[in-house]
Amino acid sequence: MTGKSHSSAHWDQRYLRGDAPWNSGLVSRELLRVVAEEHVAPCRSVELGCGAGTNVVHLAQQGFDVLGTDCSAVAIERARTLAVEAGVVVQLAVADLCRASDIREEIGDVAAKFERQCSFVFDRGCYHCARRVNLAGFLETVEWLAAPNARLLLLCGNGNDPAQQGPPKVTEAEIRSEWGPLFEIEWIREFHFEDRGGIPGPLGWVCWMIRRLTA
Ligand SMILES: C[S@@+](CC[C@H](N)C(=O)[O-])C[C@H]1O[C@@H](n2cnc3c(N)ncnc32)[C@H](O)[C@@H]1O
Repeated sequence: MTGKSHSSAHWDQRYLRGDAPWNSGLVSRELLRVVAEEHVAPCRSVELGCGAGTNVVHLAQQGFDVLGTDCSAVAIERARTLAVEAGVVVQLAVADLCRASDIREEIGDVAAKFERQCSFVFDRGCYHCARRVNLAGFLETVEWLAAPNARLLLLCGNGNDPAQQGPPKVTEAEIRSEWGPLFEIEWIREFHFEDRGGIPGPLGWVCWMIRRLTA
């Protein structure tokens, strides 16, 4: 997969400029809904590309033992502040998820705690960026983190959205072929990202998957 590659500096700049429309400060409605509907009990978990930390802090408040990771040091610093303000413990790491060795090195001492131990994996808007840079590297990271029984909630841009603006777009067929070797896709449906000032957010996919059994 080739395409426009963004460095961590690009993401840092977006957070510093306030050019981060995904960063509503509201917990993802789909995260709330799916955790309830699929009866996801508190467990060891990871948010891939956690940004400024709204969702990881929410998960920690619900009793999840959660790792939040993002390539933007600015975003991770904000997530750290949010966790302190909320009085919760969240493991946070600056790492490029397209390089599988990064996360291992960054979390160092606690690597064994997360290596193939995350029973719940959440991704809101990271995969649809990372796949354009290095899909194989990104999936290798996911494979390193996901427990054998892991369930993964993916929110990403939708190729059926006619709008020019908005998040990177992915087709249903691409999701199925890219995730299919690692995860069984239980269901996939359309949704709208959080409203912005009453205007429905961009069209997305919400996808629920279960880690395939490995030998
Ligand atoms: C659309 S934002 C979503 C942030 C967060 N999940 C949320 O819902 O607020 C995408 C995030 O992925 C991060 N990201 C993009 N590519 C990445 C990569 N290769 N490794 C780690 N993080 C990445 C960006 O820094 C950004 O914070």
